[in-house]
Amino acid sequence: MAWGDDLLQASSVGILVIGPDWCVRTANKRIHELLRVRVEPIGRPVLEAIALAELQSLVERVSRGEDVRDVVVATGDADLQVSGTLLGSGEVLLEFIDVTQWQQAERARRDFVANMSHELRTPITAVMGYSETLLADRSELGPEVVELLLAVERNARRLRDLFEALLRLHRIETRRRQLPLQRQPILPILESVLATATEVASRRTVTLGIACEPETEAAVNEEALVTIVSNLVHNAIHYSHPGGLVDVSVERQENAVVVTVTDEGIGVEPRHHERIFERFYRGDGGRAHRPSGTGLGLAIVRHLALASGCGLSLQSSPGEGSQFAIHIPRYASARSRV
Ligand SMILES: Nc1ncnc2c1ncn2[C@@H]1O[C@H](COP(=O)(O)OP(=O)(O)OP(=O)(O)O)[C@@H](O)[C@H]1O
Ligand SMILES: [Mg+2]
Repeated sequence: MAWGDDLLQASSVGILVIGPDWCVRTANKRIHELLRVRVEPIGRPVLEAIALAELQSLVERVSRGEDVRDVVVATGDADLQVSGTLLGSGEVLLEFIDVTQWQQAERARRDFVANMSHELRTPITAVMGYSETLLADRSELGPEVVELLLAVERNARRLRDLFEALLRLHRIETRRRQLPLQRQPILPILESVLATATEVASRRTVTLGIACEPETEAAVNEEALVTIVSNLVHNAIHYSHPGGLVDVSVERQENAVVVTVTDEGIGVEPRHHERIFERFYRGDGGRAHRPSGTGLGLAIVRHLALASGCGLSLQSSPGEGSQFAIHIPRYASARSRV
């Protein structure tokens, strides 16, 4: 027991155990340092002994049996990662790790990319403007010059799209809170996404279909769902063969409403399944089929799904098309969630 106690006190992880009566049972040395505890907290009500805004909701969530893992909370001077476990005795164990330096490095990396994208967007827009101006009077230019200018314009546009996607991703990544959700019918949202995709689809001779009962409702963040489905539908169109079919269907399951985007296109090899959601990752098919892509679409999808409490799944194999599914929890509360 004494040995166990030494281990507890020497641990670099802050360990806090709270009883069903909300009083502190255990708090090791690291908890004192990380949470700046001034008075001995053992035996005292936790909300009185420890000042941390999120503490009550963390304890409540763990007590309810929710999976609380790697939640980042900020104290005055540190960022702490918290995981919770409900012990057999009904006590709540909270473990705190100091991730301040890691968070700072992450923030610096993200800010650098965002600043760089922002700075580069202005000259690129100028390059596009100049080439468009020259091309406006193309009758006076030789065919080779026109071709070169078109290449300049195309590449400048591609760079601008890349910077814009990076800035969008930055905005999504820096938002720390969950997005507000509102219970609403799903069909109109999907119809609006498909309406914006019809032109691209008909250019690529791809047919779009939708199957959703009008009364299907779910707690969603509309803007996030539009961006998610729009990215998935555009991918499905771009990675389809001419004459292909892209289908958006909605299924009501016991615990979730599942929106699935299905195509009959080139498919994704299983070894790429995990990685295509990483930023800049483009499968071999992506590069060959659509050289102008940025590789950021699915990274944006993943972040927005996380921030709106949705799950994502993928079923696909090469040559057999793909199914990307968004799992919207059926009983998610329809208000802002921390
Ligand atoms: N429906 C699909 N069928 C086959 N491959 C796909 C599909 N959707 C995505 N992929 C693969 O995943 C990769 C990443 O997709 P993602 O949307 O992130 O980027 P992208 O489409 O290449 O570029 P963009 O950022 O312009 O969307 C693609 O390059 C492609 O290889
Ligand atoms: Mg894409």
